[in-house]
Amino acid sequence: MTRPLVVITRRLVPEVLDLLQPTCTLRVHDRETPMPRRDLLATVTGCDAIISTLADVIDGELMDAAGARLAVVANHAVGYHNIDLPACSSRGVTATNTPDVLTDATADHAWALLLAAARRVGEGDRWIRSGTPWAWAPTFLLGQELRGATLGVIGLGRIGRAVARRATGFGMHIGYHNRTPLPIHETDAIPARYRTLEQLIRESDVICLCCPLTPRTYHLIDADVLSRMKTTAILVNVAAGGIVDEFALADALDSGEIFAAALDGYDDEPNVPARLRSHERVVLTPHLGSATLHTRRNMGLLAARNVLAVLDGSPPLTPIPGSA
Ligand code: GLV
Repeated sequence: MTRPLVVITRRLVPEVLDLLQPTCTLRVHDRETPMPRRDLLATVTGCDAIISTLADVIDGELMDAAGARLAVVANHAVGYHNIDLPACSSRGVTATNTPDVLTDATADHAWALLLAAARRVGEGDRWIRSGTPWAWAPTFLLGQELRGATLGVIGLGRIGRAVARRATGFGMHIGYHNRTPLPIHETDAIPARYRTLEQLIRESDVICLCCPLTPRTYHLIDADVLSRMKTTAILVNVAAGGIVDEFALADALDSGEIFAAALDGYDDEPNVPARLRSHERVVLTPHLGSATLHTRRNMGLLAARNVLAVLDGSPPLTPIPGSA
């Protein structure tokens, strides 16, 4: 019997390969940069499974290039806006993602960004590195206090809840906005009040984006929304890029419409507009939300277990709703 061929589109931690190697033939793009589309289309030919990242567009063209053996695409991410789910369904290809295992790491990173923006950590760091003279002063680099402030979470899902839970330790009030308010029992453990988007934007001192990127959330944070935030507000995006209109954000920061922003996802990764890169009040990290060794190992292992389950004829562990 021939061993199934698994294409892995990016370097993964070794334990993941160790799990697959005994039963599968692996074709690995062992680099930290994405595969050019043309190479990806050629590499998937005849494969049974693909472990993909958000940078790989998984559409009908790619699945047709893979051919009829393709049974499963296991995205190494909780997000799946790179996958054309109807195209998977119509070809009988199962699509999976990696929820839960990255929740805490991502919420921690949201707080790293939030604190850095609120307390001007990046600015202070750059100040010292540049050799600019400084002295302790009562009015030097003043930030925003969090105790008693309001955190507004847009997208109170798994990651949003974990971000909100951490806010209770900082003495913050918590509001959230979802497309539909959650049943009370689902917010019980977190004292989060449902707010309309308008209320949330006007009332929050910190707005944290934790929602998926969909056509509805694309550029949700635009010039109009930014103009209605508090002038002391901090915007944190630990969700996908694309939710924030980055040029409108640069304008809002320039004109003092909001206090600061901290971003981990970008519209056109790895490109980040120069106006944001040069702005003192922006904290920027290169899509590091889930980037701890522990979490990346668990994400990789979950993706691999999804592949093995489907190839074995069993149900996947974490199928994406709406895929085959
Ligand atoms: C983002 O990195 C994700 O896992 O969706």
